Amino acid sequence: MPNNDEVLLRVEHLCQYFKMGGAELKAVDDVSFDIKKGEVFGLVGESGCGKTTTGRSIIKIYDITSGDIYFKGIRIGAGIRSYKNNKANARKEYKEKIAQETDPSKKKALSDELKAYIKEQNNQIKAAKYDQKNCDKEYQQKSVAEVKEKYLPLIEKASADEKNAINKEYSNELRKARKTKLVTQIQMIFQDPIASLDPRMTVRETISEGLVIQGEKNKKVIDEKVYEMLELVGLVREHAARYPHEFSGGQRQRIGVARSIIMNPDLIIADEPVSALDVSIQAQVINLLNDLREKFGLTIMFIAHDLSVVKYFSNRIGVMYFGKMVELATSDELFKNPLHPYTKSLLSAIPLPDPEYEKQRKRIVYNPLESHDYSVSKPRMQEITPGHFVYCNDEEFEKYKTELK
Ligand SMILES: Nc1ncnc2c1ncn2[C@@H]1O[C@H](COP(=O)(O)OP(=O)(O)OP(=O)(O)O)[C@@H](O)[C@H]1O
Ligand SMILES: [Mg+2]
Repeated sequence: MPNNDEVLLRVEHLCQYFKMGGAELKAVDDVSFDIKKGEVFGLVGESGCGKTTTGRSIIKIYDITSGDIYFKGIRIGAGIRSYKNNKANARKEYKEKIAQETDPSKKKALSDELKAYIKEQNNQIKAAKYDQKNCDKEYQQKSVAEVKEKYLPLIEKASADEKNAINKEYSNELRKARKTKLVTQIQMIFQDPIASLDPRMTVRETISEGLVIQGEKNKKVIDEKVYEMLELVGLVREHAARYPHEFSGGQRQRIGVARSIIMNPDLIIADEPVSALDVSIQAQVINLLNDLREKFGLTIMFIAHDLSVVKYFSNRIGVMYFGKMVELATSDELFKNPLHPYTKSLLSAIPLPDPEYEKQRKRIVYNPLESHDYSVSKPRMQEITPGHFVYCNDEEFEKYKTELK
């Protein structure tokens, strides 16, 4: 259970569009949510709805199209499309206004207004580009200061014999601090345990890769860390010298978990870590993640196809459909009071070990064109009861409100 309400990750109006020939594919379209420290946030939806893209956007694999991503209060991702659109819209709007105005001084005032607005948007674009690129700078400075604070007094006190070793350790730590990245505190466990491991790398190389990139050069430190991680995820140190093809699917996923945990992350994005595995192995990997979560106070974003996997594991669940978040609530609430027809259809797909229920269980098929009429009133994320959000228009909002009464 989350121990407090501190927000670790905040995603605001995230858009990630891909170029598709002349058109654009809106893989993630205006998605907002936050993840609190210590919780498991489930992200669910059918294949292609944008779950992986959301995760990859958070770890900065893309320059996001639009929106903001905050981690520990620092903006780590920022897109500029919305500001560009604002500028274009304002230009159009003001062009008409100015054309209609006959008084020259009022004309000038309008034109000044527009200029000021454009300037403000340009500043936003500049700031977004800066943060997208430099979010680690401040963090690195802080880390360097911390290392200095720790080592300088030690060096001062050290005897002549000790000095050499401590100086070496100091410069090692300093080098790492200068290279450290805020985003490495977010680690992603990738969807496909086979494709995500390099077949030419030993388990040792795979697990320690992040440490090495971060500047760790001490082989003994690396080895010890690798062994510690292997044991943590239920493997043994002898596995370190082997190659991925020598492992089963479940074991490979454990290697993936070890690779992410070694970076001592605060947030793990587990992208369908179990969907390629047998049911019995799925439970093992989920239990492993749960243990690690308790041990290290990890926060987890858990991506899955269907709701049954995330039900017991997640504190809150977000349901995605075609690039949009359509419902977001606590796990209990979502199962008790699903509102969006897509969520209902997902729930109707879960079989239960109850023959009576199974006899009556009807699969609900979601057909957006039949379910909604958005021709007049447009939908947006709205809070129906505290913490329970649904993507709906005003008419649906009223309907959902009464449904919950
Ligand atoms: N790098 C890319 N370039 C172009 N299109 C992409 C890219 N990555 C994803 N897409 C498209 O974006 C959409 C969302 O893909 P994404 O992988 O996020 O879905 P998903 O919800 O993770 O699906 P699955 O459950 O199958 O893993 C899909 O239509 C996909 O084809
Ligand atoms: Mg995916």
